Amino acid sequence: MTTPSTIAIDGPAASGKSTLGRRLADSLGYLFFDTGVMYRAVTWLALQRGVAISDESAVTALAEGTPIDVAPASRADGRACDVIIEGRDITWETRLPEVEANVSAVSAYAGVRRALSAQQRRIGQRGKVVMVGRDIGTVVLPEADLKIYLDASAEERARRRFDETRARGSETQLDEILSKVQERDHIDSTRAVAPLRAADDAVLLDSDSLSADEVFARVMELCGK
Ligand code: DC
Repeated sequence: MTTPSTIAIDGPAASGKSTLGRRLADSLGYLFFDTGVMYRAVTWLALQRGVAISDESAVTALAEGTPIDVAPASRADGRACDVIIEGRDITWETRLPEVEANVSAVSAYAGVRRALSAQQRRIGQRGKVVMVGRDIGTVVLPEADLKIYLDASAEERARRRFDETRARGSETQLDEILSKVQERDHIDSTRAVAPLRAADDAVLLDSDSLSADEVFARVMELCGK
């Protein structure tokens, strides 16, 4: 069996996609590309420039007119990759709560998706890549060699986010995180353009019933390793 060259991993927020994708890319010597950072970068830019998130055409113009550079991590500070806009490293800014609160609205805009999907597709088509997102197997790279859809219940995902946030020393409430996860799921899966769903030929894995190691082992098996 030949090792798949383009690997798509989709699924809802906090299902373990990034952890799996990063580990897989490291093991195979592939590029790890988390496409969510591009939607976060456009959201950050809109907030930074004072563009109203509800102004679809202005937000779309930002996505169309600003190249976002996603490069291998240049620092060992926990980042998966560098996110650069106009020469500025905004990797950690893309994780700010105000970005988190607005990114689902930005990623529902058709023009934003068109602009970012085209950039993502160009990178994906080079091969030797593990691409993580919501619509990689359905829209960005429907011809991907291997498609994984990694799911988990909203409760389990909220608990993971809660643990991560607390580990970083921030105060937080589990029920608040759960309601945000559910709200984000709702927006991501009901939007008109490229809603979150598994491709028909994706392998479905549920991380409620599998540990991160088990998920990884299963996917390595699918890669013939
Ligand atoms: O995976 P994440 O939490 O960093 O994603 C941030 C947002 O971007 C989330 O609301 C879903 C959206 N997204 C998307 O619509 N399509 C992708 N390919 C990746 C992310």
